[in-house]
Amino acid sequence: MAGAAVMGPSIGAVDLSSPFILAPMAGVTDLAFRLLCKEAGAGLVSTEMISDLALLAGSRRSRALLLISPHEHPVSSQLCGSRPGEMARAARLLVEAGADIVDLNMGCPAPKIVGNREGAALMRHPQLACEIVRAVRESVPAAVPVTAKIRAGWDPGDPSAVPFAQALEQAGVSAVTVHGRYRDQFYRGQADWGVVREVKRAVRVPVIGNGDVRSGADAMRMIEETGCDAVMIGRAVLGNPAVFSDCIRAWRGGSDAGHELPAPDIVAVRHLRMSLALKGPDRGLVEMRKHAAWYVAGVPGAARLRDRLMRVQDPAAVEALLTCGLSPCAHTLKLPHDLPLC
Ligand SMILES: Cc1cc2nc3c(=O)[nH]c(=O)nc-3n(C[C@H](O)[C@H](O)[C@H](O)COP(=O)(O)O)c2cc1C
Repeated sequence: MAGAAVMGPSIGAVDLSSPFILAPMAGVTDLAFRLLCKEAGAGLVSTEMISDLALLAGSRRSRALLLISPHEHPVSSQLCGSRPGEMARAARLLVEAGADIVDLNMGCPAPKIVGNREGAALMRHPQLACEIVRAVRESVPAAVPVTAKIRAGWDPGDPSAVPFAQALEQAGVSAVTVHGRYRDQFYRGQADWGVVREVKRAVRVPVIGNGDVRSGADAMRMIEETGCDAVMIGRAVLGNPAVFSDCIRAWRGGSDAGHELPAPDIVAVRHLRMSLALKGPDRGLVEMRKHAAWYVAGVPGAARLRDRLMRVQDPAAVEALLTCGLSPCAHTLKLPHDLPLC
């Protein structure tokens, strides 16, 4: 594959510029982070999961998650819930806020979620899952695809991914994401790409493979081994949106043309500035701390740098620490001891 004309797959009426998708991650994939991943080459970005009931109740935090920029399309907004009527009403709010795709969470393993028959619990209630798909499908415009994100099953003895994905397809989803871990694995162990391959063979809608992709080489191997139409990446992007440019490079057969990325310190500082601008100086700084720790992971002096990043209160000091810690010549620099520690 070569040249700018290469396109990613289409999900319903939505065309992706590349087959690499930012995974929905609660507490991580806010607007600032999505914009950086988009810029790095993600063909689709996903919001954090939004609870249908919290959104309908007018929760300020949930409404804040609806913030979508004109510069990040296409964007997929993820809903979590178990009541078809409420999911349908909440889905309309996502579309009014600018979501191009409504994704339904059928994979979250958290006990408080599955305890409400939400997330991965829906794999044990396929009829309810299909009712939700039909209700949401009917409530949003035909041009807005409805997708579902599922797991490999409940536990390794449960081969439900294939029949579940087929039932969802019948009910009207336009794509299925398969995270190749079982619910009882949470995020431990290895993702089973074999399940991604089985689902791909069993349905006609695009299948998005997910789990343990850390580089462009991994992404291309997943496409080759499973036949999936797109690859979703989660943890590998934390503090490293450049994983997407690595994917684009691998997809284009090694070419970097037109896709050079800014250096890591520039990316991290832009992230900080966007976070402050979008969330205000207090919340913006608090939420940036975990990202800052991810950005510096693995650089020389990371432990000390992380410790200081957690303690500084002044955004200018965080910026200085990120700039010094991540600059391309960081390994030749000694971190200044006199940076302001408020
Ligand atoms: C911090 C964190 C938050 C997550 N939040 C969500 C979520 O809101 N919705 C969802 O469907 N999956 C969520 N996931 C799961 C990821 O989307 C993805 O399926 C999982 O991390 C496996 O992909 P990976 O191996 O590339 O990380 C989350 C994962 C992490 C690490």
